[in-house]
Amino acid sequence: MSYLTLLVEKKQSYIIITLNRPDKLNALNGQLLADLHHAMTQAQHDSTVHAVILTGSGAKAFAAGADIAELQPLDGHSGLPFAERGQSVANLIEHLGKPVIAAVNGFALGGGCEMALACHIRFASENAQFGLPEVSLGILPGYGGTQRMTRLVGRAKAVELILSGDRVTAQEAQKIGLVNDIVPQEELLARAEKFVQTILTRSQTAVHAALTAILAAEELGHIEGMTFEAERFAELCNTPDFKEGTSAFLEKRPAKFQHF
Ligand code: COA
Repeated sequence: MSYLTLLVEKKQSYIIITLNRPDKLNALNGQLLADLHHAMTQAQHDSTVHAVILTGSGAKAFAAGADIAELQPLDGHSGLPFAERGQSVANLIEHLGKPVIAAVNGFALGGGCEMALACHIRFASENAQFGLPEVSLGILPGYGGTQRMTRLVGRAKAVELILSGDRVTAQEAQKIGLVNDIVPQEELLARAEKFVQTILTRSQTAVHAALTAILAAEELGHIEGMTFEAERFAELCNTPDFKEGTSAFLEKRPAKFQHF
């Protein structure tokens, strides 16, 4: 499947989705959001895809935000579906049921930062910059940024970033827990792929259950979260992958998971 605003590369067990409007710094217009929603849905339903890497084309930007030309005509009525459309893409990424890795290759601003926040882990190139500059435009982050940034870096840092609208470097972003690792730009995809390769050696059934339980930590209360975790643990104890993983350890051999 080819897209107007994305490049999608299928590897053996994962895909790389590249936001591809480099002349507009990969700004998220309606077409790109529709394409991204479609590509992520395809990935979700493709049982041969176990992980997704999301990156931007060109050396300058992951995505420089929602397309400001499309923002400008909004009013109180059209603003709500506009925000909900972006949120639905971010929610789909977060709840894909498979790890989604952001490889942030430059500016990740506004909606671009919010898509990176919806990913489960973020690697950044040395030139990456993060920011939620919406208050400079007279709006607030509407694709989940107020919620996900606050959960990820804590309220004080989220207040600093969102109320100032200032950008932070990759190094500053790593200090506050927004970024997991920083590498030179030419090594960025390899860094993300290395992480994916590690995941692929594990039981995918266990990986997916663990991801679901981690997300539950943010969405359920502590007691419900513990119950949810114990239930997923018990389910996994019933799987062939659990028998294989534990047997392989005891027999001192590599595990051969069937992923169920
Ligand atoms: N929406 C629409 N177009 C955008 C865009 C956005 N969010 N961000 C960049 N572009 C476009 C520019 O209009 C320009 O297009 P043009 O060449 O047709 O004029 C092109 O991308 C290159 O951007 P430019 O501003 O010339 O690059 P720069 O290196 O001087 O500055 C940024 C880079 C990221 C600092 C600057 O583009 C910027 O501030 N963008 C907006 C960021 C923002 O507020 N995002 C939140 C939106 S909610």
